[in-house]
Amino acid sequence: MTTSLKVAVIGAGVAGLTAARELQRESHQVVIFEKSHRLGGIWAYDPRVESDPLETDPTRDVVHGSMYKSLRTNFPRHLMSFTDFKFKEKIYDDHNINPGHEEVLKFLEDFATQFELTELIRFSTVVTRVEVIDVDLGINSFVVESKTNEVSLVEMFDAVVVCNGHNTQLLLATDIPGIETWSKEQMHSHNYRDPEPFRDQIVVVIGSGPSAIDISREIAMVAKEVHMSSRSPRFKVGKSDKFENMWQHSKILKIESDDTMLFQDGFSVKTDIIHHCTGYKLHFPFLETNGIISVQDKRIGPLYKHVFLPQLAPNLSFIGIPELSFTFTIIECQSRWIAQALSKKVSLPSEDEMLLDVQQYYQEMIEKGAPEHRTHYIGFQISYIDWMFGQTGMVLEKHSKDMFEYFSYCLINAGVDGYMNAFSQKYGIQS
Ligand SMILES: Cc1cc2nc3c(=O)[nH]c(=O)nc-3n(C[C@H](O)[C@H](O)[C@H](O)COP(=O)(O)OP(=O)(O)OC[C@H]3O[C@@H](n4cnc5c(N)ncnc54)[C@H](O)[C@@H]3O)c2cc1C
Ligand SMILES: *[C@@H]1O[C@H](CO)[C@@H](O)[C@H](O)[C@H]1NC(C)=O
Repeated sequence: MTTSLKVAVIGAGVAGLTAARELQRESHQVVIFEKSHRLGGIWAYDPRVESDPLETDPTRDVVHGSMYKSLRTNFPRHLMSFTDFKFKEKIYDDHNINPGHEEVLKFLEDFATQFELTELIRFSTVVTRVEVIDVDLGINSFVVESKTNEVSLVEMFDAVVVCNGHNTQLLLATDIPGIETWSKEQMHSHNYRDPEPFRDQIVVVIGSGPSAIDISREIAMVAKEVHMSSRSPRFKVGKSDKFENMWQHSKILKIESDDTMLFQDGFSVKTDIIHHCTGYKLHFPFLETNGIISVQDKRIGPLYKHVFLPQLAPNLSFIGIPELSFTFTIIECQSRWIAQALSKKVSLPSEDEMLLDVQQYYQEMIEKGAPEHRTHYIGFQISYIDWMFGQTGMVLEKHSKDMFEYFSYCLINAGVDGYMNAFSQKYGIQS
């Protein structure tokens, strides 16, 4: 027997759209709340930046978007498709294996049209409160309060799927001695759109993730000098062999009062702008769950397999929490698992078993010496995807699995500069 529930989905980005599609497939009644006037989440490029570039003012207008103008994906489009809905090369007519953000948005719009999701979305509607209430002897329900043009609405739902994204609330490098008195410009990649503000400047970019690398290279085309700095021991220190005006340094030791940066490798440079590419923190301002969920910068818990809160499973779930991985496929298998758990087609372990699983996961992290901020960093491996598809009886087809595995292999063996080339040589543009 299947159960049809009234489900609220928060957000109409990749995660919310995919969740809605899978929930509908299971005949649940879905409402998607979307604070923007359009779908696509961060793939809907937003040229606006925040008035307060380091977001110190809590009353500022928040801009959700973090994409920059020239952004192309750091994955081939083959690996950003869903199992039964794929990018169509001929329609978009772009021979670069990495699509631009416009194409990804078009793909998501086509996806929403194909599966009739657009009509489920309440646009320009922000969820301001999700509260769990005990309605009848241990049966929980959710109060969802939303606001459309200043008009508030309070409704009840059986289940809530949280898909609000996690690339908007910035994390900053604040532990650098001297940064508290820095008076020149600084900004975060959330507010980066194009390199113009850096023209002829001496820039220090903090971070070594994919955005830090991409943005540094773009800035290097116009800036006087670009100095990347990373605390990661794996970051190669020295002058760039690609750019005349670019250097890679270890972490910043301190900032002197005359704006000179001092790096651990002994290098120092008088700097004009600090650019933080230091990532984002998890943020769920609407959740009121009486302390049963804890949210730190980079850890929300306890979440069974990064999805379910054991105490309220399967009625409260989170999609897209794993970081730096095959996002679209992970979102697809998580969505399917949630939809089928809600219709009771698949059963979950008991609350205690799920909690134990989370505790064991934390314990393994401690034993491996993994810092807490890596809690949801699952990396480019496919065991998580395999396991999760397995829960709903799906199998990742061999061709896709081979591609994922080969992509990981290229990343490890060819590095950031060579992995896309290595991958293209085997799979080319068509697949
Ligand atoms: C610069 C950058 C580059 C990236 N490049 C890639 C890439 O190449 N490949 C890849 O696979 N992934 C990439 N990612 C990861 C990206 O986060 C995922 O691809 C994916 O877009 C995440 O989708 P989402 O639905 O979880 O979040 P989002 O796209 O952020 O969507 C969340 C939605 O929720 C809405 N929302 C938020 N709060 C509320 C609220 N309270 N009420 C109502 N609506 C709300 C927002 O308006 C938004 O539409 C990149 C991320 C960044 C920041
Ligand atoms: C989840 O929701 C269903 C339907 O409302 C309900 O029967 C069940 O008790 C809820 N589970 C929990 C753990 O609250």
